[in-house]
Amino acid sequence: MTISTSLLAELRRVVGPQGYLDQAADIEPFLVDHRQLYRGATPLVLRPDSTQQVSNIMRLCNEARVGVVPVGGNTSYCGGATPSEDGSQIVLSLSRMRRIRSVDPLNYTLIAEAGCVLAEVQAAASSVDRLFPMSLGSEGSCQLGGNLSTNAGGTAVLRYGMMRDLVLGLEVVLPDGRILDSLKPLRKDNTGYDLRDLFMGAEGTLGVITAAACKLFSRPASSVTAFVGLADPQRAVDLLSRLRTFTGDAVSTFELIPRAALELVLEHIPNTANPLDQYHDWYVLLEIGMGRHDETLRGAIESELADAMEQGQISDAALANNESQREMFWRLRESIPEAQRRIGASIKHDVSVTTSELPRFIIAASRLVREISPQGRIVSYGHLGDGNLHFNVSRPAGGDDESFLRLAPNINRAVHDLIARYGGSISAEHGIGRLKREELVRYKQPVALEVMRAIKQALDPNGIMNPGKVL
Ligand code: MLT
Ligand code: ZN
Repeated sequence: MTISTSLLAELRRVVGPQGYLDQAADIEPFLVDHRQLYRGATPLVLRPDSTQQVSNIMRLCNEARVGVVPVGGNTSYCGGATPSEDGSQIVLSLSRMRRIRSVDPLNYTLIAEAGCVLAEVQAAASSVDRLFPMSLGSEGSCQLGGNLSTNAGGTAVLRYGMMRDLVLGLEVVLPDGRILDSLKPLRKDNTGYDLRDLFMGAEGTLGVITAAACKLFSRPASSVTAFVGLADPQRAVDLLSRLRTFTGDAVSTFELIPRAALELVLEHIPNTANPLDQYHDWYVLLEIGMGRHDETLRGAIESELADAMEQGQISDAALANNESQREMFWRLRESIPEAQRRIGASIKHDVSVTTSELPRFIIAASRLVREISPQGRIVSYGHLGDGNLHFNVSRPAGGDDESFLRLAPNINRAVHDLIARYGGSISAEHGIGRLKREELVRYKQPVALEVMRAIKQALDPNGIMNPGKVL
């Protein structure tokens, strides 16, 4: 179904000459997803610069039954922001709505529009000596609206939570153009259903998020970053528990890294070096932050890690002595996806189980994958404190992408069926998008799916909001 020229003309009028792209070269970046799994088509990318313009767009498209695909930084891992191939949908980019509307340091909140790049929100917080703790590899390009729509996680979830835990209110344009303004930066507001959490994580299928009231936190005055070598994931789980108790839950990051991942990074990513003088089967990147300025923090962590070493819980540890060493430790972790990309196709999983079960899961999942692809290179890393593992399998050395990727359905099925047996989640932080719709039906409790469909039907009866995603 093609979009009528009269509707296209009306939509251009709503946003004005600065507010749309209709030349093929300008539209191209919006047609392919971050992992290049999908290619869509559209005659028009709209770039409204106000909530009212978004409202007018939605009203027109709803009346015409034309699908609208909201997009932020287009860093989705599941094809959540790519239009369909038939050119029947409009792409709605929030990029021009990037105002920080207000900052209230005493209330520890700020209100930002959906098109703000995450790094800009972080900067607005630190400009008033506050912290907006959402941090992830794509923070230089991902946008707040996309983080909200996918309930993004990142590397500080352990202490600060996911996006849902960092937001007090939302402004949303509904599929019929009505504006839901619940932007109040109140920590307490028990007046009916929690509509805010309904739209976060909905991946643009229930409405267009145009702004958010975000929580801010105190910036840790002192922090310690360590790169620890240890023998197995169980020791990592035990170390996390030990340090959470020792610091009173001041552990903000606790990332598990297998030796295979560190070797890939050291081999393929420039300006990286092994912080420890030996190789170990497993590593943890951890960061601990304290509110008050505490000279003793570093010493205390150092002696706690020395004790852990004495007791055979860890094999070695390096503490960052300065900001550039800290950045190096982080680069080792943040470069893993890129390093893995450089060795060819990978079959990825973004799964979660309880942290206590994670070590057992890794062993069981590795065994299953080895039966299907004995030479496949397992690289399982991730946010151990959240029980969230990126259990990725790279194609065998010297193999070819094509034949390896043909194994994806049965490797995915084996890993996800195992997840179901562990009572885990088949998508811990990346969402469903287009990629995992069938998995959602297979693994989500049927009543939950019925409730989701009822909500979708109530809010988007014409099915124009990001069609084909999630449900
Ligand atoms: C990460 O934690 O690095 C991402 O969520 C997963 C990835 O980029 O593969
Ligand atoms: Zn992740």
